[in-house]
Amino acid sequence: YDLSSANTLGLPCRAERFAAPAALEPLRRWLRLASARAWPLTVLGGGSNLILPERLPGLVLQPALRYWWLERRGDNVLVHVGAGVEWHPLVMALAGRELWGTENLALIPGSCGAAPIQNIGAYGVELCEVLEAVDVMFVEDGRCARLTVEECAFGYRDSIFKGELESKAIVTGLTLRLSREPQPRLGYGDLAQRVGRHPGPLEVAEAVCAIRREKLPDPAVLGNAGSFFKNPIVERKQAAQLLATWPDMPLFELPDGRAKLAAGWLIDRCGLKGWRAGHFGVHERQALVLVHFGGGSAGELLAVAERIVERVQARFGVSLEREPRLA
Ligand code: EPU
Repeated sequence: YDLSSANTLGLPCRAERFAAPAALEPLRRWLRLASARAWPLTVLGGGSNLILPERLPGLVLQPALRYWWLERRGDNVLVHVGAGVEWHPLVMALAGRELWGTENLALIPGSCGAAPIQNIGAYGVELCEVLEAVDVMFVEDGRCARLTVEECAFGYRDSIFKGELESKAIVTGLTLRLSREPQPRLGYGDLAQRVGRHPGPLEVAEAVCAIRREKLPDPAVLGNAGSFFKNPIVERKQAAQLLATWPDMPLFELPDGRAKLAAGWLIDRCGLKGWRAGHFGVHERQALVLVHFGGGSAGELLAVAERIVERVQARFGVSLEREPRLA
């Protein structure tokens, strides 16, 4: 089964078996079969945060639960959504219904089921802030559970699904908590300048789309997985030392005194923006994004990434961590 067009980096990949169960019971049956036959399991969402190898043995499962419905809860509206629903069209549909909460997360590629894994975030909002619960099915026994936000242990681009529950639970659905009351969050970058004085959620979502289209390559045109590195978090002392040398370095202070740096800026300042190495390169408008010009492989991509990590380490003494996951 050819997965080359099922991953936004456009890496060549052949899976031994592929299934897209559209309901819980078939998903459970596939898990049982995989366990009985000892097939290695790979779970695929929208494939927008994933580095695929050329061959995937065993079974690739892409949850295709595609329901969504709204439930009124006081001033809030709960949105129950299946893992297989695409994130961005859902965001636009909710914003179009005058519901506040997810509009800053417009145009993030991928499925709803993948969203909590890395706790997607952009323009000052993280998924965990609008999430009420995450429904999962355990791989071992097919049992279903609803995890609270606390249980998901969310952090910056992080969750329990990358830690303790990695390979152990499959996200089957989300419950989001949205609001009918205006709650614009326009503090990030120049978002406030891009909308009118009393914008609705759709206007905010459209402004976010416009900013993203200016900076981020469209995976349908140029293979990429969004930010290839996380923004590194450093101790207060190191941040102060860096600022002394690089006074214009963007820096975001965290409540615990540490600081989050902009990986894109660090790579940019190494002179790597627009740099091309073989079939891959650093995007010319956002240095945090690696792009695939076609014809390359996962191994080559990881080697190119390693060269970038080394350059940033040598110049700034900061270690960059990869963002997309290896399948
Ligand atoms: N910068 C540069 N050169 C670059 C890129 C960035 O100097 O090539 C500077 C910018 O001028 C700015 C700072 O770095 O001062 C931050 O840049 P930007 O606002 O573009 O955001 P980012 O930190 O590079 C993060 C997320 C993005 C998200 C944006 C907006 C991560 C790893 N990335 O990028 O998420 O869209 O903020 O909130 O946290 C993704 O995860 O795939 C993703 C695209």
